[in-house]
Amino acid sequence: MSDTRLKVIVTRRLPDAVELRLKELFDTELNPSDEAFSAEQLADAVTRADVLVSTVTDDVSDEILKHAGDQFKLIAQFGAGVDNIDVEAARARGITVTNTPGVLTDDTADVTMALILAVPRRMHEGIELMKAGKFDGWAPTWMMGRRLAGKRLGIIGLGRIGQAVARRAKAFGLQIHYHNRKKVSRLIEEELDATYWDSLDQMLARMDIVSVNCPHTPATYHLLNARRLELMKPDAFIVNTARGEVIDEAALASALTSGQLAGAGLDVFEREPTVNPDLLGLPNVILLPHMGSATVEGRNEMGEKVIINIKTFVDGHRPPDRVIPAIL
Ligand code: 8YV
Repeated sequence: MSDTRLKVIVTRRLPDAVELRLKELFDTELNPSDEAFSAEQLADAVTRADVLVSTVTDDVSDEILKHAGDQFKLIAQFGAGVDNIDVEAARARGITVTNTPGVLTDDTADVTMALILAVPRRMHEGIELMKAGKFDGWAPTWMMGRRLAGKRLGIIGLGRIGQAVARRAKAFGLQIHYHNRKKVSRLIEEELDATYWDSLDQMLARMDIVSVNCPHTPATYHLLNARRLELMKPDAFIVNTARGEVIDEAALASALTSGQLAGAGLDVFEREPTVNPDLLGLPNVILLPHMGSATVEGRNEMGEKVIINIKTFVDGHRPPDRVIPAIL
């Protein structure tokens, strides 16, 4: 089945197989240059398209949606997070928003676990040393990091990805703690041996490693601000593979510089692609370029989900990954 009349505009390059299938199914406009759309290009896209396939680099604001033509009915986000889209403004205009949850859970959890392992064990410092030819031989007190087993991991946001991180971390002997708006089911708590903290402040003060795995919403913006970072132990580490906006990046940089925190592993930043320059030179920090879901398999499956969401929508069904403002 195909609906070659449906105008689909894709804002970024997607894996070849995904682009090919989109072309087969719909009247699809691709972006071979892969340059992120400007506000003008986005406004033009919603004026002309029936469907926009967006990503984290598109600011689909109310201002943009004001340009939407009557035919524009679906924003099919290629990604799990939808904080780049004004979902409430879309709903008010009768525009459906979908995302791609589930298929990037393991990939993102793997990168999170890699950071949880790498930062306390100073892997990046070791790599830099070797590259600089500074390995002069083994010594008993050389490159000592911190052991993981027996330490407390505090997960902020025990959703799909948070739970996948917890499963991995448990296998490494970490004790699982979490803060959520609501407790997860008893079954999940038992499986993960997870301790719930209603108070984020109290949890932060007791954790050895904190992992941010919640979405960025107005309620989680700067959830980890200067005051909360100060509550953490000076030998604690922070890992963030969710969204940079959840942490006050300037406050984090100064806590890491002053030694108020032991280290951090960051895959996401508050003003991507800009990174706070104070973070760049710190030896106790690993910085990654937002690559949590960057696997061939993950990106193909994200594309597959985008296609299923568009197809079910145009066929008159409720798309499986509809984003509902109330759950954000
Ligand atoms: C994506 C992500 O690569 O899915 C998400 O929410 O953060 C990333 O893994 C990106 O957002 C795609 O839009």
